[in-house]
Amino acid sequence: MSRMVSPGDTIGIIGGGQLGRMMATAAKQMGYRIAVLEPTEDSPCGQVADIVIEAAYDDLEGAKKLAEVADVITYEFENIDEETANWLAEQTDFPQGSKVLGTTQHRLKEKEAIQSLGIPVAPFHAIVSIEDVEEAATKIGFPAVLKTCRGGYDGKGQRVVKDEKELRQAAEELIKHGECVLEAWIPFSLELSVIVTRSRNGETAVFPVSENEHRDNILFRSHVPARIDDAVCERAKEMALKIVTGLDVVGTLAVELFMLKDGRLYANELAPRPHNSGHYTIEACKTSQFEQHIRAVCGLPLGSTELWSPVVMENILGEDLEAVLQSISRLDDVKLHLYGKKEAKVKRKMGHLTATADSIEEACEKIESLQRVNVL
Ligand SMILES: Nc1ncnc2c1ncn2[C@@H]1O[C@H](COP(=O)(O)OP(=O)(O)O)[C@@H](O)[C@H]1O
Ligand SMILES: [Mg+2]
Repeated sequence: MSRMVSPGDTIGIIGGGQLGRMMATAAKQMGYRIAVLEPTEDSPCGQVADIVIEAAYDDLEGAKKLAEVADVITYEFENIDEETANWLAEQTDFPQGSKVLGTTQHRLKEKEAIQSLGIPVAPFHAIVSIEDVEEAATKIGFPAVLKTCRGGYDGKGQRVVKDEKELRQAAEELIKHGECVLEAWIPFSLELSVIVTRSRNGETAVFPVSENEHRDNILFRSHVPARIDDAVCERAKEMALKIVTGLDVVGTLAVELFMLKDGRLYANELAPRPHNSGHYTIEACKTSQFEQHIRAVCGLPLGSTELWSPVVMENILGEDLEAVLQSISRLDDVKLHLYGKKEAKVKRKMGHLTATADSIEEACEKIESLQRVNVL
């Protein structure tokens, strides 16, 4: 596995969204060339790549074309089909491999894998057919959350259910999309995430813990450092390190956690790639999560994850874009990232804002003051 992909070489990225774009930007800064595989024209990553291969993600021929031009292949999203992932693992330099993809694409397998490392997850029960509902309800209790095993994101593919009738209705609906998992509702006081990286040489590095606020199941803001006890912070980082090594992950991994009032932590889900809650690292850490990912898959030494200062990151969704553009002349102390997406659809992630300051409160104030003036 230990091989170094050098600047000047071409990194192939599967997926042309904003995560690919920010990976590509970090890689190009270090002198790499970028080839991206993406079915849509003028994608966020396609706009900054040297080579664009227009093909569907599940088109093995497309992956083969990418392999022809790329010295190493990575991905910006985890829903790569199994056949393509296996082919990449066997025939190309694909340091992240196909195994972690198989685990993190499937919520049940993911939970079992985390649990097998001795890390707590919400009690869960598989729902393969509607007959499983009764037993799941008895075992898990209510409220609970029913989630499809595959394909969910930003709260899509999941329902909170309060009783068996609601569960049955939700199951009838969601099971059409395949196997589901019923999870106990965790009455968390905070949601946290930890971004951790493991290089192809086995070196690991963990970023500061982020405290995440969601609205309508979509990340709204990340605050770093998280306003939690140092001991909880250390435990969160230890969990992330245990997962990244235990599951033999290469590259960057995001671990989402729930924290109860008493400081107990549960792992919620994993993403084997840079994550929205790690965007703060671009301005606030010595190395960004994107640069770290590139270092990891290219076999370079990992960079320092030290935090320069407190920071707040806020997403810009389609419905927020106009207001942000109107406040652009006052963006002196807030950093603007836009992903180059043409259509500002409601709830679509168009970009983000990052403010660094001496305190989280001051950073929030910088972002909020932009929005306040717009209202007047
Ligand atoms: N078991 C649970 N208990 C409490 N809240 C939950 C639970 N599962 C999900 N949620 C809430 O829903 C959000 C989205 O769920 P998640 O499993 O992270 O799916 P995704 O981010 O892929 O949509 C979480 O960030 C959390 O706010
Ligand atoms: Mg999530």
